[in-house]
Amino acid sequence: MADLSLVQVGKRYGDRTIIEGLDLHVQSGEMVCLLGPSGSGKTTILRMIGGFINSNEGQIIIDGLPVTNVPPERRPTSMVFQQYALWPNMTVYQNIAFGLKLRRLSKREISQRVAEVLQMVDLRGLEKYYPAQLSGGQQQRVALARALVLTPKVLLLDEPLSNLDAQLRHKVREEIREIQQRLHITTIFVTHDQDEAMSVSDRVAVLSEGHIEQFDTPDNLYLHPETNFVARFIGSMNVFRGRIRNGFVYAESSEHNEPVPCEHSNATSTTPVDLAVRPEDILITNDIGATARVLRRLPRGHYAEIVLETSLGTLRAFVPNQLSIGEIVKFRFGRALVYQGGRLVKEEANMAQRVAQEGATI
Ligand SMILES: Nc1ncnc2c1ncn2[C@@H]1O[C@H](COP(=O)(O)OP(=O)(O)OP(=O)(O)O)[C@@H](O)[C@H]1O
Ligand SMILES: [Mg+2]
Repeated sequence: MADLSLVQVGKRYGDRTIIEGLDLHVQSGEMVCLLGPSGSGKTTILRMIGGFINSNEGQIIIDGLPVTNVPPERRPTSMVFQQYALWPNMTVYQNIAFGLKLRRLSKREISQRVAEVLQMVDLRGLEKYYPAQLSGGQQQRVALARALVLTPKVLLLDEPLSNLDAQLRHKVREEIREIQQRLHITTIFVTHDQDEAMSVSDRVAVLSEGHIEQFDTPDNLYLHPETNFVARFIGSMNVFRGRIRNGFVYAESSEHNEPVPCEHSNATSTTPVDLAVRPEDILITNDIGATARVLRRLPRGHYAEIVLETSLGTLRAFVPNQLSIGEIVKFRFGRALVYQGGRLVKEEANMAQRVAQEGATI
């Protein structure tokens, strides 16, 4: 068990800044996902924690001790790489035992620890198999066992499921989570799959271009995305420019001025802002509401995703399954999030103040 801190960590390649002023504090026994688009710096951060690349600035602290200048083999971390490479000419047993041999443990101790870890990842009986004789999911579990057998204080997983098909991904990610919770091992899990991040982690750090946009629980990321980037990146979201006043949303351009009623959002602005509405917050109504036409309908089993043509542009909504293409419906918003300068404006007062500061009228 150990906590991990990155303090003002920076990484440059030549004159290109990849990571800048990164602060991240992970609690002991926590599973944290680094989630972000390709090239956002996830692998770079993980490799700096593991010591495989050096940071240019800042400190990395594990369990209270700075490890910034400690080589990877002497850090209390072990890493499963993005392209997990098992040694093809070694059996499962030999693959897992290798790291322990380097540490010069006795044969007896090695065999005991390999047996323990094989049981943990549910691979008992496959000791003598070679990687080519295993399924993708089994190979992945060997890679995990190879990291776990070293009893690291911090486990680093770089897209450990990327080579698996969707069904197996679900299964193995749940197994990893179960093992992580059972061992209470501090874990950093890198992925660019938000569904994966949201379903296995205690907290998620959403990365964009080498900085953290928001570090929060999955629920908070979904319900209170603090930046425009997170709002667009996590889950499905309708984002559009508009004005919001006295419980109504208006389109930015004045030709489309049919207001859309909006509950639970008492912000007010006469200047256009970025508004974000989740598909499940678009409510089809029988009474008061703005007009929309159903453009497309995508059945999703117990509900349907529909695309609506509205005065605010095309919007996606999740609805019970009974609407048909071409139908004219009425709708309102259950909840709209308001962004200004890319950041969530939480309250009316806050909003009014900001707009006033920027010299606009309310
Ligand atoms: N050795 C290097 N030299 C120069 N630039 C590099 C080097 N390694 C990585 N980069 C750059 O750093 C940025 C972040 O790369 P990184 O591999 O951390 O991204 P990532 O978030 O892991 O992406 P992916 O999801 O594709 O794995 C990229 O723009 C990449 O081009
Ligand atoms: Mg990567």
